[in-house]
Amino acid sequence: MKLILLGPPGAGKGTQAEILNKKLNIPTISTGNILRAAVKNGTPVGLQAKAYMDAGKLVPDEVIIGVISERLAEADCQNGFILDGVPRTIPQAEALEKVGITFDAVVSLEISDEEIVERMGGRRVCASCGAPFHVKNLPPKVEGVCDACGGKLEARADDKPEVVRDRLKVYHKETAPLKDFYAARNLLKTVENQPTVAETTTAILKALGL
Ligand code: AP5
Ligand code: ZN
Repeated sequence: MKLILLGPPGAGKGTQAEILNKKLNIPTISTGNILRAAVKNGTPVGLQAKAYMDAGKLVPDEVIIGVISERLAEADCQNGFILDGVPRTIPQAEALEKVGITFDAVVSLEISDEEIVERMGGRRVCASCGAPFHVKNLPPKVEGVCDACGGKLEARADDKPEVVRDRLKVYHKETAPLKDFYAARNLLKTVENQPTVAETTTAILKALGL
């Protein structure tokens, strides 16, 4: 299955992608995680991306298209994948069409801006593997420690309320138009955010007919 998870920052794309990749046995490709690793390792892509990410702006399309094309060519992506956080602009979606990828579905996670700002304050991510947690909604078994790899959990630099508000503005302007783009191709499934992570997974699987 080739799936896109769409939604504003903090909608739960990364959280659901982690769960779905185990259930469906296909890899998740998160441009956010790829870029954060690139920044940490000081690669040329990381050096280009850092200032945009810190400001809550989108990294230029040509950088993202390069990153995603390289990742999709790898062997583990040949039987399907889940895209988390990409495409994020119409040019990115068009670039994926141009290379001949046909998606099975695009799931749009719907959640209000107010809920997002509140939620992001409690998010913690693993510094080693990128797995997302939440101090209240999805706490790790041991405080401050990743369940998956034992790495240290930390708040993300771009989760400060003022940066979250800028990311939301960017989402509404640049990314939300993708809903019409994929609705026109009969691929769009809209899923309302549910009170818990597990209920949201159930709603996604139902929307996908699984
Ligand atoms: P990226 O890492 O993609 O960030 P984002 O889209 O802003 O999304 P987030 O990772 O913040 O949220 P999420 O939807 O994954 O939510 P999560 O599951 O963590 O991008 C970061 C930056 O990189 C961008 O600003 C940009 O600069 C750059 N970038 C990346 N891709 C790009 C692209 N394609 N083009 C250009 N630039 C790009 O959940 C959030 C929290 O809520 C967690 O703590 C979680 O535990 C909790 N939670 C989740 N679901 C629920 C629920 N149902 N109930 C209660 N709590 C929940
Ligand atoms: Zn980890």
